[in-house]
Amino acid sequence: MARISALHLLTIFIFFSIITIQVTYGDEEFQFVKAINPTALKMKQEKLSHFRFYWHDILSGKAPTSVMVVPPPKTASFTGFGAVNMIDNPLTLGPNLSTKVVGRAQGFYASASQEEVGLLMTMNFAFTEGKYNGSTITVLGRNPVFNKVREMPVIGGSGDFRFSRGYAQATTYFFDPKSGDAVVEYNVFVMHY
Ligand SMILES: *[C@@H]1O[C@H](CO)[C@@H](O)[C@H](O)[C@H]1NC(C)=O
Ligand SMILES: *[C@@H]1O[C@H](CO)[C@@H](O)[C@H](O)[C@H]1NC(C)=O
Repeated sequence: MARISALHLLTIFIFFSIITIQVTYGDEEFQFVKAINPTALKMKQEKLSHFRFYWHDILSGKAPTSVMVVPPPKTASFTGFGAVNMIDNPLTLGPNLSTKVVGRAQGFYASASQEEVGLLMTMNFAFTEGKYNGSTITVLGRNPVFNKVREMPVIGGSGDFRFSRGYAQATTYFFDPKSGDAVVEYNVFVMHY
């Protein structure tokens, strides 16, 4: 009697073990999330890079790179509150547009302040030169354009800038109030792997 009970128990144990293994295997096939080692993504020492380039906001001429896609309402304040510009602005090494193009700033900016000219900047710096060709840095921040230095957060990036964070400082180099054309120096400090 006792021997039969032991055999029964063993049979039941093996039966449930097989079911457990199958259920576990089935879960792994569709695994939703798991912790991994950062080295699996070649993440070693985090480094800090300083980029410096000039951002050309060209509204005038035959080939503008900055286009107003939403005009401000007629009742808007002098700040143009509500206006939205789409941009594909060249980024160059020097302040002159004839210097080497290192990338483009693609995105949009919107007039987001009724008291001063303050923009919401939403743009990707898409680099086309050197080591960082094909990688992007994403900036989202507040840009009160008549302040000497404006600071905007770097909220992430792609390619070599995965997991990146940092900040960008913008300083106006040239502004033509007639056409609205501007050249802005950008210093971008970014932590990345
Ligand atoms: C920019 O470069 C062009 C061509 O090299 C030159 O003619 C022009 O004067 C330069 N502009 C400024 C503001 O330096
Ligand atoms: C940047 O990458 C693109 C796409 O891979 C390539 O066509 C281009 O030649 C590269 N530019 C430089 C300067 O390496």
